[in-house]
Amino acid sequence: MRVRWNHFKLLLFWLTVLAVLAFEAEARKRVRIGLHKNPEPIEENIKNELKTLSIKHNLNVDDTKAKTKTDTKVPGSKVATLENLYNTEYYTTLGFGNPPQDLKVLIDTGSANLWVLSSKCPDSVAPCANRIKYNSSASTTYRAINTAFNIAYGSNSEEGPIALSGFQSQDTVNFAGYSIKNQIFAEITNAPETAFLKSQLDGILGLGFASIAINSITPPFYNLMAQGLVNRSVFSIYLNRNGTNAINGGELILGGSDSGLYSGCLTYVPVSSAGYWQFTMTSANLNGFQFCENCEAILDVGTSLIVVPEQVLDTINQILGVLNPTASNGVFLVDCSSIGDLPDIVFTVARRKFPLKSSDYVLRYGNTCVSGFTSMNGNSLLILGEIFLGAYYTTYDIVYKLIGLAPAIH
Ligand SMILES: *[C@@H]1O[C@H](CO)[C@@H](O)[C@H](O)[C@H]1NC(C)=O
Ligand SMILES: *[C@@H]1O[C@H](CO)[C@@H](O)[C@H](O)[C@H]1NC(C)=O
Ligand SMILES: *[C@@H]1O[C@H](CO)[C@@H](O)[C@H](O)[C@H]1NC(C)=O
Repeated sequence: MRVRWNHFKLLLFWLTVLAVLAFEAEARKRVRIGLHKNPEPIEENIKNELKTLSIKHNLNVDDTKAKTKTDTKVPGSKVATLENLYNTEYYTTLGFGNPPQDLKVLIDTGSANLWVLSSKCPDSVAPCANRIKYNSSASTTYRAINTAFNIAYGSNSEEGPIALSGFQSQDTVNFAGYSIKNQIFAEITNAPETAFLKSQLDGILGLGFASIAINSITPPFYNLMAQGLVNRSVFSIYLNRNGTNAINGGELILGGSDSGLYSGCLTYVPVSSAGYWQFTMTSANLNGFQFCENCEAILDVGTSLIVVPEQVLDTINQILGVLNPTASNGVFLVDCSSIGDLPDIVFTVARRKFPLKSSDYVLRYGNTCVSGFTSMNGNSLLILGEIFLGAYYTTYDIVYKLIGLAPAIH
């Protein structure tokens, strides 16, 4: 079985961040009020804290501005709006079956399968308790397929690979106002109770190339094209970085791009290996430390941070002066008061520079600042996750195998 690791691994990283923050929040609380008699679950605490922070960050957001702006989208394209959770997870809502059952799926360009939790996964299986699940009996357009489905995600954690299993089903999937007929997807009935299922996802929507789809199932975007719903083989991604935001977290544009969301022109680079959205990056440079020369990089929405090859992380951590360089969980903290002094990191794609400022690559939650760089065992790719994709608007052409990048407007 193919072991795919990138996205879940990073969700795990995110949950480790939550744990670190929760620990600090608990410590602070203890100092303030002594021992808590009836503590809420630790994760709830920190989620509430983060929510408050995000709401604070959102105070200046003028939602009407985004809604009334002139339509600069390519004609014939449609927008799936995204929900942003803590700037580290981006979801969209798909409607399964008839009448549509709305399920929240994490968007992921690093995989190519669509799966959702199944109503056949009983509440007694921990990860399925109190979740929104797809119920095929309640859909008039459902067709049984029942082929077994297994997917495994490697992880840094002691638990080793995380295996999910279930079976294939077919139904209509409503996506951004398009109605995809006969989409095959997986219903998950068995999953370990690992950290990622404590996340808010009901499923995952893979936007990678069909060549990496488990069981060779045709991914939704390919069906959108095959059914003539979009007339261009392109989708594009715009991520807001304003923190948790259920309605204005970003846009996944199907069938084209929106020139109102980026500045200047797009830089195009060919896909070097069509599986992930992989390309050859010219160079990457942090304060004179060049750690990439024509290296292989992937764009991966579904991964929160930037994952660098293991051997370069130590030097990056030194340059950033991380506070806990020996952390084994891959979450490195920086001194919040030093952010202003940290250098830009400059990626060069084709001949154009794509810098990130420290305010782009450090995640700040209250008084805790998390470095946007990490590594994973055995990984040699440069994985550009949401830290990068928040700063740069990206387009993905699945037929011409072309990636486009330009500075995102925020
Ligand atoms: C995000 O927040 C910034 C500053 O708070 C604000 O200027 C900007 O308009 C917001 N963007 C969106 C799209 O909500
Ligand atoms: C795509 O289709 C839409 C709707 O049919 C049409 O308005 C638009 O001009 C088409 N665009 C292209 C590039 O063919
Ligand atoms: C699924 O839907 C059917 C038909 O509406 C309903 O009878 C059944 O209780 C539902 N199952 C679950 C687990 O919700």
